[in-house]
Order: sequence, then C-alpha cells, then structure tokens
Amino acid sequence: RTCFFYKLHIRLVNFKIRHICVFSIVKLMKSKENLVFLGMMGSGKSSIGSMVAKKLRLDFIDIDKEIETELGKSINKIFKEKGENYFRKVEEKITLKKLKTFPKIISLGGGAFLNRNIRKEVLKNHLSFWLNWSDQILLKRIKNNNKRPIASKATDNELIDLIKKRTNIYSKALYEIKCDNLSKNEVTQKILNIYEAIKIKN
Ligand code: S3P
Repeated sequence: RTCFFYKLHIRLVNFKIRHICVFSIVKLMKSKENLVFLGMMGSGKSSIGSMVAKKLRLDFIDIDKEIETELGKSINKIFKEKGENYFRKVEEKITLKKLKTFPKIISLGGGAFLNRNIRKEVLKNHLSFWLNWSDQILLKRIKNNNKRPIASKATDNELIDLIKKRTNIYSKALYEIKCDNLSKNEVTQKILNIYEAIKIKN
C-alpha cells in the first residue's frame, strides 16, 4: 500500500515538474526577452546560466566565449595585445548584438553591466539576475583562476574594493540571487522559481 501511494506521489511530482517545464517553454517562446546573468567574476554566471538554459530548453550564450571566438584569441591575450579599452568596445558591440535575438539565456562578462549602453538595454528589455556572494567567497573563487586579466595582478584589498564598487551597479539588476550556502542546483532552482512566478503573474 505504502508502495502504491509512494509511486502515485512520485508520478504526481514528475507530472508537475513536466507541466511546469512545458509551461515555461511555451511562455518563454512567446516572450520578447532574454534571461541575463550578471555579477562578479567567479560568481557562476556561465555554469548557472547553462543549467537554467538546459532546464528551460533554451540556447545559452556566454559573451566571453563569443568574444574569444570572434577575435580568435583568449580574453587574456586580447587584454595583453590590445588593452582593456579595446576589449570593452568589442564587449559592448557583441553583447548588444546578442541581446537583440530572444528568447535565450545570456551570461555577461563581469564588467559588462558597468557599460551604460549594455545596462540600459538589459534593464529596459530583459530579465536580469545578479548572482551575489559574500566578498570573501568571491575573493576565493576569483583567486582560484588565472584566466582573468582584471584579477591576476590585483591584491586582495584591490579586489575587495572592486567588488564593493561594482556591487552598487550590479544591484540595479531586476533580481538579486543570494548564492552563499547554496549548491548550483539550488541556485538554479531559485531562478526557475522566480521565473515561474513572473510568468504566472503576467
Ligand atoms: C571581466 C570579467 C571576465 C571577462 C574579462 C573582464 C571583468 O568575465 O569579461 O576578463 O571586468 O570583471 P567573467 O566574469 O565571466 O570572468
């Protein structure tokens, strides 16, 4: 008996999940916006973005990867050979271009939302999610990776200053996702829940 009710429960849960998923896809297919992930380097924009994309069965675009493909070199090399200003110009051009088609999931580079034109477009026409972590966790995550030119020469204090400065701007995003103590799956689920609630309301 328990077994029967347990099986029934599992079936209902599966049905609900499938229903929510199909519902989301249909709604999103009709929508004219992208889901945009922003936040500091190391905040998980790409990994969470691609997990959300899989759940909603949508395309996922990582702007850093797009820039590397377009220019045929790594971000590190672009910074070294052409400098940050050049990188920022290309970043603006590619980000604005990618934002024009929808619906899809986009993860921005950590500095992109500081650009006024990108920020304006994201806030006006898309759903933005800021993946926020405490400073110390971010610091650890940033320092574990040497592929980031902005971080590789900075001291801990300089990075903390940068995080603080950027926080004011990131906080303009439509949704703040507090990620401390959450697994990637939990962060993903949090975003899907928010998205579901928005779609139900509209
Ligand atoms: C940058 C973040 C990087 C990349 C570039 C500059 C920044 O993206 O765009 O190195 O200014 O924070 P990630 O946040 O994906 O590492």
